[in-house]
Amino acid sequence: MGFFNWAAPAFGHFADRWSPESIDEISGWLEPYLGGERRVLDVGGGTGALASRLSESTGARVTVLDPTPEMLRYIPDDGPIEGVVGTAEAMPFPDDSFDAVIVTDAFHHFRDQPGAVSEFCRVVRTGGGVLVVELDPAGVVMRLIVLGEKLLGEPGAFFTPDAMCEFMRVHGIAGNCAVIRGVSYRFVGTVR
Ligand SMILES: C[S@@+](CC[C@H](N)C(=O)[O-])C[C@H]1O[C@@H](n2cnc3c(N)ncnc32)[C@H](O)[C@@H]1O
Repeated sequence: MGFFNWAAPAFGHFADRWSPESIDEISGWLEPYLGGERRVLDVGGGTGALASRLSESTGARVTVLDPTPEMLRYIPDDGPIEGVVGTAEAMPFPDDSFDAVIVTDAFHHFRDQPGAVSEFCRVVRTGGGVLVVELDPAGVVMRLIVLGEKLLGEPGAFFTPDAMCEFMRVHGIAGNCAVIRGVSYRFVGTVR
């Protein structure tokens, strides 16, 4: 987790990159999955910038799980969202704790992606949602980014949209992928 330890101040200053349109879009994908308790887990949620916006827009109780305390320390203690130190691969939550899991710009950092998806299926109730926003590694610019991440010691384990859908299906989450804009795409799926 070395990279995020030292990069946390930059994320703290620039992480709130979410436009009102993107918050509406993400809230719309989450809404069908939010049951009565409206519990959402943001895995690799870093500074909590997205979690805080989603909490405002959906009224959900959002928990941010992240292994980097330097990122989590940007979450106000007295705010509506909770930060928890831990990894996607070994979550400190009981089964069926959430209605939905969201992962933005973090899935390619997970060192054991099948283990992480298995944890999504465990902590999200049956019929709950999994939303992953990722970057498509096809194309020259993205290949340079993959290389850069690897040089920084990160896994850089990106999927194309088709590969993401197939990977999720094989690991128990049926869903679909759609391009959002540029090289960004989203996977939305349901836990069986
Ligand atoms: C590029 S930041 C993205 C932060 C936030 N989701 C966003 O979209 O702005 C990636 C985050 O993933 C976290 N991360 C890295 N490995 C992880 C793991 N195994 N489990 C959960 N989070 C992880 C890092 O600590 C970092 O906060």
